[in-house]
Amino acid sequence: MTQQQTWSQRFESALHPTIARFNASIHFDIELIEYDLTGSQAHAKMLAKCGIISSEEGEQLVTGLEQIRQEYRQGNFNPGVDSEDVHFAVEHRLVEIVGDVGKKLHTGRSRNDQVGTDTRLYLRAQIQQIQNLIREFQTVLVDIAEQNVETLIPGYTHLQRAQPVSLAHHLLAYFQMTQRDWERLGDVYRRVNISPLGCGALAGTTFPIDRHYSAQLLHFDKVYDNSLDGVSDRDFAIEFLSAASLIMVHLSRLSEEVILWSSEEFGFVTLKDSCATGSSIMPQKKNPDVPELVRGKTGRVFGHLQAMLVMMKGLPLAYNKDLQEDKEGLFDAVNTVKACLEAMTILLREGLEFCDRRLAVAVASDFSNATDVADYLAARGVPFREAYNLVGKVVKTSIAAGKLLKDLSLSEWKQLHPKFENDIYEAISPRQVVAARNSYGGTGFEQVSKALQAARDQINQD
Ligand code: ARG
Repeated sequence: MTQQQTWSQRFESALHPTIARFNASIHFDIELIEYDLTGSQAHAKMLAKCGIISSEEGEQLVTGLEQIRQEYRQGNFNPGVDSEDVHFAVEHRLVEIVGDVGKKLHTGRSRNDQVGTDTRLYLRAQIQQIQNLIREFQTVLVDIAEQNVETLIPGYTHLQRAQPVSLAHHLLAYFQMTQRDWERLGDVYRRVNISPLGCGALAGTTFPIDRHYSAQLLHFDKVYDNSLDGVSDRDFAIEFLSAASLIMVHLSRLSEEVILWSSEEFGFVTLKDSCATGSSIMPQKKNPDVPELVRGKTGRVFGHLQAMLVMMKGLPLAYNKDLQEDKEGLFDAVNTVKACLEAMTILLREGLEFCDRRLAVAVASDFSNATDVADYLAARGVPFREAYNLVGKVVKTSIAAGKLLKDLSLSEWKQLHPKFENDIYEAISPRQVVAARNSYGGTGFEQVSKALQAARDQINQD
């Protein structure tokens, strides 16, 4: 059935073909078809239950819709631009299959509440998939952390060596970020899972429908209480895009670290062949394309958030065709986040190897134990600020002499302050520097072991 037959008798001529293409969304909203069919089946059941159509008619509609699902899954349902969108495509095919009764499906609803229902059903499923992908990512993160509680890595502030930390502690920071992402998605889900079905075009319907029943069939938690809000609300999509953007922020930060770590300058990780690419001209190159792409794709997701915010800001109530623009960005954000989570999980699981030797050398060859010298004196009664100044002085003279703090003799230490004893050497060894930071949430091994256990418990909770 072509589009010109769709519109009412009010229309005398068909759309200009270019305008028809411009107006159509079928080439992207076909993504919603499974949800559209499920939503329509629930609507048909509700119409029958409320006596708006007969129960046989209801069954015919449900069966016809199921047939379209099979046709689609077998690759035999490929509507073109003359269907305009997925909703018309399904309705037209339904009439072909079940005859005139198919024309009753659209009783008491509009494409406006229909598309809102489909989008929510889609996003609901996607949120669950993304949450599962986050869990897989976290599991690999925790596995690697478990093997590296006692592996030390320089910790940075301002990208300057600051204090060494346990590699597990560093990785568990990403566990925490993605845990918030996981929880945030759960929170967004609660506002996605509200049914607009039955809000009609904007004002409700004259038919005695039961919105709560169709919502229940579709496992929505509740229904929109205001029909104008129901058909025009896209807050849930904006919230999702915002949560998706934060996931990308976190993946992108980890990506940036992996890129730095894999450089000659850092040399903290090597990339395995399964996750690295070469150069077409420089035979020695091994490039970190995976984290670079994740970092690069992050901007796309931010862009979709921005686009949706701007699209919404000037819309008068209720439905406006602008809202058709909500879908491509949303779908792309979903696909991007999923692809990036999958790629980063593989990269962590089998694409990287930490270079223990380089890490050990790195943490032993700098002044990142200077705070511990100051703490040593402060613990022995010297006011911290005074100790801090003394250590600043010794760092300066050591640099000039080409020495590290561990190279100073006990008499040099004593010259600096009589409180220094032989145990200063142990206190400034990288292992002890890390172990000593046993405050809650710190990098001390005891704390990290507890954090690891807590992370495991968190993952296994659901
Ligand atoms: N394809 C439309 C969309 O994605 C469906 C709703 C159309 N409603 C309308 N009144 N033109 O938003």
